[in-house]
Order: sequence, then C-alpha cells, then structure tokens
Amino acid sequence: MKFHVLTLFPEMIAQGLGQGILGKAAGKQLFTLNVVNIRDYTQERHGKVDDYPYGGGAGMLMQAQPVYDAYKAVAGGRKIRTIYVTPQGEPFTQKKARELSEEEELLFLCGHYEGIDERVLEEIVTDSVSIGDYVLTGGELPAMVMIDAIARLLPGVLGNDASAEEESFHCDLLEYPQYSRPEIWHGKQVPEVLLAGDHRKTAAWRLEQSISRTARRRPDLYEKYCKKQDIIKRLFSEKRNNIHMMEALASGRGEILYAADTGTSGEWDILVYDGESGICMMTAADETSGKMLAERIPADARWIVISQPFMKEILEKREFSDSGRTFPEDRKGKFRETALCGQMLYTPRETLSVRYKEVHRLSEKAFSYICLHYPEKEGGGEDYIRERIRAGALYGAFEEERLIGFAGVHRGGSLGMLYVEESRRGRGIGESLEAYVVNQMLGKGRTPYLYVDEKDIAMYRLQEKLGFYKARKNFLWLKKVLANGMTLC
Ligand code: ADE
Repeated sequence: MKFHVLTLFPEMIAQGLGQGILGKAAGKQLFTLNVVNIRDYTQERHGKVDDYPYGGGAGMLMQAQPVYDAYKAVAGGRKIRTIYVTPQGEPFTQKKARELSEEEELLFLCGHYEGIDERVLEEIVTDSVSIGDYVLTGGELPAMVMIDAIARLLPGVLGNDASAEEESFHCDLLEYPQYSRPEIWHGKQVPEVLLAGDHRKTAAWRLEQSISRTARRRPDLYEKYCKKQDIIKRLFSEKRNNIHMMEALASGRGEILYAADTGTSGEWDILVYDGESGICMMTAADETSGKMLAERIPADARWIVISQPFMKEILEKREFSDSGRTFPEDRKGKFRETALCGQMLYTPRETLSVRYKEVHRLSEKAFSYICLHYPEKEGGGEDYIRERIRAGALYGAFEEERLIGFAGVHRGGSLGMLYVEESRRGRGIGESLEAYVVNQMLGKGRTPYLYVDEKDIAMYRLQEKLGFYKARKNFLWLKKVLANGMTLC
C-alpha cells in the first residue's frame, strides 16, 4: 500500500507516523508514506497558499491551484482514491478502514484555515471523510488517525493475524477487559477464569464481558447487536439451510437489510448483504415478498444467493443472470459454470486430523502459481487472488518446499479454491488441505461450509468423509451481468 499525504505541515505527518508499530512496518516496506508539502506548489512569490473567500466571511481559504498542482505531481495521469479529511465528510468507521485497506494507493488531502476552494475538491476528491463531530484546526491529525486504522489492517503490520480480527467493534461488540502480570495489583485480583487455562470458559467469559461492556458504554451498538442476535437465533432454527447468512452475520461482515416474519408460508423475508464480497443472500416467503426484496438489493451487489426458484425470474429482470459459480468439470483443469449449488456444512466443533503435514499459510510468493491454476472467472481473477493471499485466507501444500496445491476461504466466508496438481492426486493431499482450512475456521469460532456443484456426487462423498453434511435446499448463484455483457468486479 502507498499512502500519499498532501499537507502544509509535512513534518507533523512524518513524525507522527514514523514511530512505534507503524514506523517499524514502514521500515519493513509493508507500506510507503509519501508526504507532499502543498506550499512547494504555489505560484505566489511569498509561498502564499490561501486567500479571502468570495462573498466574505471569517478566515482564509486554501486556493485551488497549489492543491491541484500538488495532486498532479503525485497522480500524474492516474486516478487515485483521494480522501479529503473534513468535518463535513461521512463518518470514518472500522468498515471504511477495511474498505480503504484494500486499495493499492490512497491520497489524503489535509485542509487548513477555513477549508479549500470547492472547485478543486470537485475535480480530485473521491471520498470526504470525518473522524467525528468536532472541529480540529487542520486535517493532519484526522489523516493520521485514518492512516493508522488502515495500516494496522495490512498484512504483517501487527505481526499477529488474530489481533486485527478481534478488535473493538468486531461483530458490533466492544472488546473485553484484558489483564497481565502480576495476578494481584493494588489488591485487585485477575479474574479466576483467565488463570484456569480452559479456552472454552475463557471465550464464554470474554463474550459475556464484551456484551455487558457494550450495553453500558455504547447502547447504540448494543441495540444493533441484539437485533442481529435475534435474527441469528431465528436462522439457527433452520441452521442446515441458513449457514451462509448466519456466518455472514456472526463474522460481522453481513448486514441485515430487511427481516420480517410474514407468518404465511413459514419462510421469513430476509435480505442479508455482505458488502465486502458483494454477496446478497435472501429468502422470500412468496413472489410478492421476492419483488419487494429485489427492490432493496444494493446497487453494488455482484452476486445473489437464493434458494427459491421463483426468485430467478424476478432477479433476471434486474440484470442478475444464472451464469453462476465456476466448478472443476473433470479435475483435469477444465471448469464449467453452474448456477445450482449444493451447500454443505461442518457442525462438529472437533478439529480434523491433517495427515499431510506440509500445509502452511501462503504468502505473495504463491501468487503466480495460484493464478495459473485457479479459474480466472471466479471471484474476479487476479485481484481477488491477491486480496485473498493478503487476507491470510489461502493455504498451500508443499513437497520439498515446492507448492503442489492449495485451498482457502472465499471472501464471502465459504471454503473453496481447492486445487491439487494432477500427479499428486489420490494421496489425500486435497483432504488434508481442506481439513487444515476447517481447523483454521474452527479456531476462529466459525462454522465451516462450502458450495458444491449440485451434480458432483464424488465431491459430496469427499465432503461427507470429512464430516460435512448437506443442506436440504439447493442454492442458486446469480451473477450481475450488465446489459453490455460486463460483470461487476
Ligand atoms: N478537519 C477538522 N476537523 C476534522 C474532523 N473532525 N474530521 C476530519 N477532518 C477534520
């Protein structure tokens, strides 16, 4: 990731971000920071960059010319995602940080005085973002706040994969209290449960603490959490058919856009959207509900997963076609697209044994190998693969340090992307890769599930051997195909 910052106070940014964890990460080239002094681009003789606002009013405005020239010096002819830090922007949230962390390059524009000439903002700004409902003297501190929140999500920056995931605001809950040595300090004892070494009890205690802390300190978040839990409970009563929605909600990626019990067919009307992967999951009680839900599909949705066949026609009218997902056709590198998938889930909490020992998380070194063996169409090609590696979601099997197969977790949360070189098949390597991924997901408290080509009996058998069982319904995967034949990526 490359961060560029346009500012009148370059030392402030360089010093503020050059320390601690971020300083170390920049030293390791995990990201780069390019700080540009806007004043270097003024055409005024005395280095002036501001002037009085037309129409009068208090204070001075930053002029368009130096800001634009500083921007051009960085961007050249490229279009870079440009964030104007301003109290009038959309609120900066963990979700926004996650979204921005997926860019290759970001440019922050820090305002000063009373703001910046609107005309240059119109030309270069893609996002206006605020860090809160208060006004600071300039944009440098907000820019640093945002860069810190984004940079800590980049692979390797925290040096511990788990810590970025278990942060405050994960799944709408604040983090639980933490304790370190000594066991007693100022007469206060570390809670007994944390000393006993029982992971299950520790996890339960932490969840309980997170809930009560959130209820006390952030009633707004707590209300959101309770609503979500109610729906998860409802989905749980039909777990076998709802695991994709439950997982999207429980992992914090999914948002409930609509949920209501129509009381008619026993089906609920539910629309869950995972904005990160662009997957919209829905069930509708009947066609009328289906049409109403279709109206609520977000404009940037790329996939729809449904289990009611009558929804197909309704959604085709909204540019969703049944070209579906890509599955291996013959295990020899040929692939075919199918809209109808079976869904399988693994509900035991016990980890699986991994017989083939050389399975490890993959790094960027594996990128070209995966691109070569993974079908271009699924999930958006090379960018998708790069993103999955960076998220730490791909695992590889090695033979004498050479990669011979891989498997992973899709951005939407299902297991998949399984591949083993033909000459290495029949030795249980695919099974071990999958078992390894299952164990990783269990370790994160997830319920592993996957999609199987509805006609692929051999694949069902393999999954059953591992302990997966099949949902009663089949699922239809529809892909957004625009009128010009393009798909959204
Ligand atoms: N500039 C001044 N105050 C700000 C705020 N609250 N957020 C973002 N930029 C700002």
